[in-house]
Amino acid sequence: MNSSATKKKKPQTSLKNKSILLGVSGGVAAYKAIELCRRLRDEEASVSVVMTDASKNFVTPLSLEVASMHKVFSSLYEEPMAHITLPQQAELMVIAPATANIIGKFANGIADDLLSTCFLSFSGKTVIAPSMNWRMYENRIFRQNLEKLTSLGVIQVGPGQGSLACGEEGPGRMAEIPDIIDAVRTAFSKRDLEHEKIVVTAGPTREYLDPVRFISNRSSGKMGFAIAKAARNRGADVTLISGPTSLAAPAGMRFIQVETALEMAEAVEKEVRSGASALIMAAAVADFSPSEKSGTKIEKAGELLIRLRQTPDIISSVAAGKGKPFIIGFAAETGARVERAREKMKKKKMDMVVFNDVTEAGAGFDLDTNRVTIIDKKGETGLELMSKDSVAEAILDRFSEIKA
Ligand code: PMT
Repeated sequence: MNSSATKKKKPQTSLKNKSILLGVSGGVAAYKAIELCRRLRDEEASVSVVMTDASKNFVTPLSLEVASMHKVFSSLYEEPMAHITLPQQAELMVIAPATANIIGKFANGIADDLLSTCFLSFSGKTVIAPSMNWRMYENRIFRQNLEKLTSLGVIQVGPGQGSLACGEEGPGRMAEIPDIIDAVRTAFSKRDLEHEKIVVTAGPTREYLDPVRFISNRSSGKMGFAIAKAARNRGADVTLISGPTSLAAPAGMRFIQVETALEMAEAVEKEVRSGASALIMAAAVADFSPSEKSGTKIEKAGELLIRLRQTPDIISSVAAGKGKPFIIGFAAETGARVERAREKMKKKKMDMVVFNDVTEAGAGFDLDTNRVTIIDKKGETGLELMSKDSVAEAILDRFSEIKA
């Protein structure tokens, strides 16, 4: 860690240079493998594709060849050693879509085509994205096969619930591509936070004037959600407490929705006191709330004066309480006022503060990127503009270093 403000390069994207063997089996969702392949390549992963013969009824090898920029394999005999060499070169296998048939073969050690032989000779982690009709998904034999695989460490993502290709509704839709990418990331993640219980806050709060009007801010929740997901991927037990956002509840964590600063304060207090080791406050908690809330809609008038009073400071009250966790706060400043962030850290008794100038292009509210300076008791590190996912990893890296 640098003890003075230096600009650090973007941390390596977690899928960069990762070698992934994508298995495509014969379901209607096979066409989505093209998009998955592209998104993995956007993440700078190297993707090789193995198709079952059945999958070629739904998507052409040429499409996957173009999407992966590699030769696509499907025959066990065309290149007799492919079932050994392809898995040897891969760090992770991803099967999307994974039909009931391929899951059955995997679970029972059947190796009668290139994909099933690759699976048997592969010793790394495998992610499967089941996709099938809901009746097949609920079939007991299939469920035993699936359970056998997951109990052996195969990572399952999805299926989702909804309208299926056959026109019926139910579970069986292949997981969405971002969720599959998320599962791939999780499979590659460091597990350095396995013993941490982390409470993360995200999003804005709403402070009501009357039943229909409120004061709020521009926070989208993206920064806090990115931290919560990264912490989960690194093995932490995560509780995400969020103000109103349009983001979907992330899987694999407790998710508590609140509206007001007071509700957020109560939820944080409860979660922290039940034994959290860290609190990460990325939420843009309103600093002021109307002193009075009208029970009915305020009538239109020429002028309306609103008296505001300060909301309870969540970080300060957690810091003052028993069993103080490691506290990481954010400082949203308008201008390069790093000094103010440092003062906030001292005043609120934080262990670390993440400064962001929310007026800077690409940084702050409602964007996928941010540029931050991470400040702790030993010094500070200025990072370049990067994705909020990478900012989240950098914050957790520093937390992990301090805790080690
Ligand atoms: O949600 P996004 O659109 O992704 O935007 C991200 C973000 C800009 C909201 C985020 O990066 C950020 O800066 N969050 C903190 C916003 C903020 O409230 O900053 P502040 O400097 O006003 O507050 C300092 C710290 O005190 C914050 O950690 C805040 O959560 C906390 N606080 C604030 C008020 C309050 N009553 N209690 C608190 O604990």
